[in-house]
Amino acid sequence: MSLPTATADVVIIGGGVIGLTIARALALRGISDVLLVERARLGKEASSAAAGMLAPQAEADEADDFFNLCCQSRDLYPTFAAALREETGIDCELDRTGTLYLAFTDHDQGEIEHRYDWQVRAGLTVQKLTPADARTLEPCISESVRGALKFPDDIQVENRRLLSALIQANEKLGVRVMTASTVESVRIDCGRVQGVETARGFISTEQVVVSGGAWSSFIKILNAASPNPRIEPVKGQMVCFDSTDVAPNLARHVIYSPRGYLVPRRDGRILSGSTTEQAGFDKEVTGAGVHSILSNALEISPRIADLPLIGVWAGLRPRAHDSLPVLGPCEQIPGLVFATGHYRNGILLAPITGELIADAIVDNVVSAALNAFSSDRFTSVGVNP
Ligand code: GLY
Repeated sequence: MSLPTATADVVIIGGGVIGLTIARALALRGISDVLLVERARLGKEASSAAAGMLAPQAEADEADDFFNLCCQSRDLYPTFAAALREETGIDCELDRTGTLYLAFTDHDQGEIEHRYDWQVRAGLTVQKLTPADARTLEPCISESVRGALKFPDDIQVENRRLLSALIQANEKLGVRVMTASTVESVRIDCGRVQGVETARGFISTEQVVVSGGAWSSFIKILNAASPNPRIEPVKGQMVCFDSTDVAPNLARHVIYSPRGYLVPRRDGRILSGSTTEQAGFDKEVTGAGVHSILSNALEISPRIADLPLIGVWAGLRPRAHDSLPVLGPCEQIPGLVFATGHYRNGILLAPITGELIADAIVDNVVSAALNAFSSDRFTSVGVNP
């Protein structure tokens, strides 16, 4: 198959939630010729495997740059979801019931006390619950619970509906898409980006966004002194139950323990995760993986034992060496922009990533919020003399 056209204003490499959100943001800001190139199918990797928790407070131990970025992105979600609904008619099921975080051991108790103290000092909204309070809010919670926090601002989105909405929004905005197309390299000449070499031929462009998730490091940056920042896959297995017939409305909140989580969906499904495994690009679901997810789910709620298990899957989270995202223009190579390595937070960070990358490309404004995440923090990707 030949290329749709061999030029584009911006080429986005990778059609997961990050690439799709950036493509939409660029098109909304008037870039007329955005081309998104995806190696397989849109949104079918980590973005689909995720559970859609938008819960920076539940997971954070300090208010650093990463936490602030996550909170900013979470707080964009109501507007983001409403705009997507307006553009496509698709409801992303943004659910604002809130998140509970449970303690079952002395160590867990210490963790939630610390989290409560620093977040109160930082002026964030967090509530301490007794075991009885927690079980009143969610009667499915185990009687073994020792204490809990409630994070009313930590919410969730149905990530697969979000992906459908983004795909449709991009279609309507005229973003061109090439699926089943691998980008082999980004060509740099005269010190700047000239285009991308794909399995279907060369595409000339002055702007390239690398948003290939766990596959980002396969893209060669030609004539650069060192390769792309290294992004490695980290496997996460997931399990899905159906509560519809056995225990409708079993849970309303997203419920975490330090070891696992339950995410109730509007249609009665309950997602539970996850594992954190270095297994290369293997996405098999294993007995050991499911066993560990089930025991953590049962610790949160023994009632899970009664539910039909209706699905299992695994995804590959993209992680940089320091587990932080790689975001923004590469200083030494004009035209090369990174938006990858979102690790456990791709869905959460999509809206802010879209906005900040569009600021950099369209308005040439690189937000200070990106400083901590620049690709330049790794070995330089400088141009060979
Ligand atoms: N964001 C949750 C996970 O990666 O398991």
